Amino acid sequence: MIKVWTDAAEAGLLDRFEARGSTFLYLPESLPARAVSVTMPVRLPSWDVRFGLPPIFEMNLPEGALRERLRLAFAKATGTFDEFDLLGIVGRSQVGRIRYTGQKEQLQEDVPFQSVDEILSRRRDGDLFRYLLDTFASFSGISGVQPKILVRDGGSLSKTTYRLSDSYRGATHIVKLWEQNEYPQLAANEYFCLRVAEKCGLDVPPFRLAEDALALVIDRFDLRPDGTYRGFEDFCVLNARRTDEKYRGSYETSVIKRFAEFANSSHVAADLERLFTLIAINCALRNGDAHLKNFGIVYEDVRGEARLAPVYDLVTTSVYLPNDSMALTLNGKTKWATVKELQRLGETRLGGAPARVKAILEQIETAIAATSREVRAYCKEHPEFDDIGIRMLQQWEQGAASSLRAA
Ligand SMILES: Nc1ncnc2c1ncn2[C@@H]1O[C@H](COP(=O)(O)OP(=O)(O)OP(=O)(O)O)[C@@H](O)[C@H]1O
Ligand SMILES: [Mg+2]
Repeated sequence: MIKVWTDAAEAGLLDRFEARGSTFLYLPESLPARAVSVTMPVRLPSWDVRFGLPPIFEMNLPEGALRERLRLAFAKATGTFDEFDLLGIVGRSQVGRIRYTGQKEQLQEDVPFQSVDEILSRRRDGDLFRYLLDTFASFSGISGVQPKILVRDGGSLSKTTYRLSDSYRGATHIVKLWEQNEYPQLAANEYFCLRVAEKCGLDVPPFRLAEDALALVIDRFDLRPDGTYRGFEDFCVLNARRTDEKYRGSYETSVIKRFAEFANSSHVAADLERLFTLIAINCALRNGDAHLKNFGIVYEDVRGEARLAPVYDLVTTSVYLPNDSMALTLNGKTKWATVKELQRLGETRLGGAPARVKAILEQIETAIAATSREVRAYCKEHPEFDDIGIRMLQQWEQGAASSLRAA
């Protein structure tokens, strides 16, 4: 049995249920603020699923490389290895405001210290990658297919903003690594894609590329300066989908309409504009991985306003998969959206005035042009990036021509 905590307070108990499912029961007299998700209010009856875990509890489970690593390390000890076991391992350190412990345990989020500067600086030795995964894997309650870990440093990457109190023991940063043979230069690829989003005025958490380009380090956007956490839920959760259904759905319904349903906020029009900008950026940068887990909401109070989460996980995937297409459908298809289709989306689904929609697409084009200059300069300094860099620029040019520029 697993005890579930929200905002560092006990919320309920989670247990296996029937052959392959699970059941969650709020503790008696739980207040509405203890809710684990905007989709699962506090109630007397249990929340049961027949397969796996309810989406909110599955949300941060590692996928891909990290999951496999944890399976190899822990399967022997537990005999089996399913989602429930995985949650028991990474439950103490998670993205967002939910934590998991044994039924009788107290919360204890003691993530080892790791200097982010050391990861970023060129002086590190080649074994750091393995050391980081070995040390931090079991503290990394974070989803995604690429190898990544949660680490604890003192404060924000943008040194001017804040430092956390010395008693804070939770994770502060996400370190994204990549397998060299599979997706060359993935960190630099993501770095420049995030630069485009930043230049478009979107909210991107502070991020830095390691000098050797082997890692991308990002501030957690769910961590508050006082060491407490904001709520975060991705669109798999909001659509009541399992992680393996993250490529199912449409931008119109599963993202835009769903966001408007849950936003519950006076900022919904501004956030919808940001969401539209982000969808258009994904098309222009040829990111075929903008699936349901790559959008999210954040909130201060589970019963209050929800805002669009800051931007994360932007990659020009088409440099690795030349025939890649969109992760979700638009107008019923996954072919990269054209400028006409994006304009229609902006004008009809988001209620944007035609001139405003046009201005947004132009702004993205300007941001891509400015970032392209940075990519060229970086290629000169880092010949190992040249091949991917040039391919990125080609993809962006094609993307801008078909998805942003009026015919
Ligand atoms: N800055 C951040 N702060 C807090 N949580 C984040 C941040 N960036 C990403 N996340 C969370 O971590 C998850 C994994 O990150 P990300 O999407 O960047 O990894 P990925 O391995 O590239 O994903 P994918 O499987 O989509 O390729 C996200 O789905 C989101 O839940
Ligand atoms: Mg992702």
